[in-house]
Amino acid sequence: MIRVLVSGAAGKMGREVIQAVNQQSDMQIVAGVDPAADTDIQGVELFVNLDAAIDATKPDVVVDFTHPNAVIENIKTCLAKEISIVVGTTGLNEAELKLLEVEAKNKDWAAIIVPNFAIGAVLMMRFAKEAAQYFSDVEIIEYHHNEKKDAPSGTAMKTAEIINQHLTAREPVVDDSFEIIKGAAGAVSGKVRIHSVRLPGYVAHQEVIFSSLGQNLIIRHDSTHRKSFMPGVLLAIRKLPALKGFVYGLEQIL
Ligand SMILES: NC(=O)c1ccc[n+]([C@@H]2O[C@H](COP(=O)([O-])OP(=O)(O)OC[C@H]3O[C@@H](n4cnc5c(N)ncnc54)[C@H](O)[C@@H]3O)[C@@H](O)[C@H]2O)c1
Repeated sequence: MIRVLVSGAAGKMGREVIQAVNQQSDMQIVAGVDPAADTDIQGVELFVNLDAAIDATKPDVVVDFTHPNAVIENIKTCLAKEISIVVGTTGLNEAELKLLEVEAKNKDWAAIIVPNFAIGAVLMMRFAKEAAQYFSDVEIIEYHHNEKKDAPSGTAMKTAEIINQHLTAREPVVDDSFEIIKGAAGAVSGKVRIHSVRLPGYVAHQEVIFSSLGQNLIIRHDSTHRKSFMPGVLLAIRKLPALKGFVYGLEQIL
């Protein structure tokens, strides 16, 4: 039985993870951590502090869906205690992660960091990689609910990173002098412009628009419910014992 602790247990994703884990026969929730909640979540014992929760409940795995400001501290706590962690939180600080990677080298420990657990989003990135080899112009539009704490989304940044590695025909985007209102043409990531829409009617959606003279290829993915992320989260929990160090992306374990 895999003992799972959910960090961010009272949040939108944390609650989905608790429900999904509870439906599995090979894993169980041992505790939740969330400083914002003062009552049980679906009968799960809640702590305000990850350190104390790990000591009290001895989980095999921590699953983190918290906040960009909290996640690095949580990874550090898990690394110090050698409890492996599934990280779904986005907006991570790359420089801090690099430092932790060095520290993790000699430990019997793993962290899997996944900007998007939906299989459709993984395929969207794979298809974007393929298309990037044939098109010279591309922009990304990502749409999320208006409570999202970071922009652009982790998925958009990961997609841009992949495209930047394969889109060779175009110079980096630098000219924004045509913008009458600053930001109108989106943020610039290497050779890719990213536009972030934040509205209450969305969950998580993205369009990658490849373009050349006279044609556009649009690759679109829609997560219309947070349940779309759960098969990926459960897979990561099950695969974690076989991993070591930092692993980036669901595609590494599919
Ligand atoms: N990887 C993916 O597939 C995926 C999918 C959806 C959302 N996300 C990301 O997951 C994160 C959470 O999203 P959400 O919609 O559930 O947000 P949310 O705001 O609904 O929930 C976050 C919860 O974390 C709690 N929290 C804050 N600091 C904490 C700490 N130090 N320890 C424990 N809990 C803490 C908050 O009180 C809150 O209840 C965001 O970064 C979001 O972008 C990732």
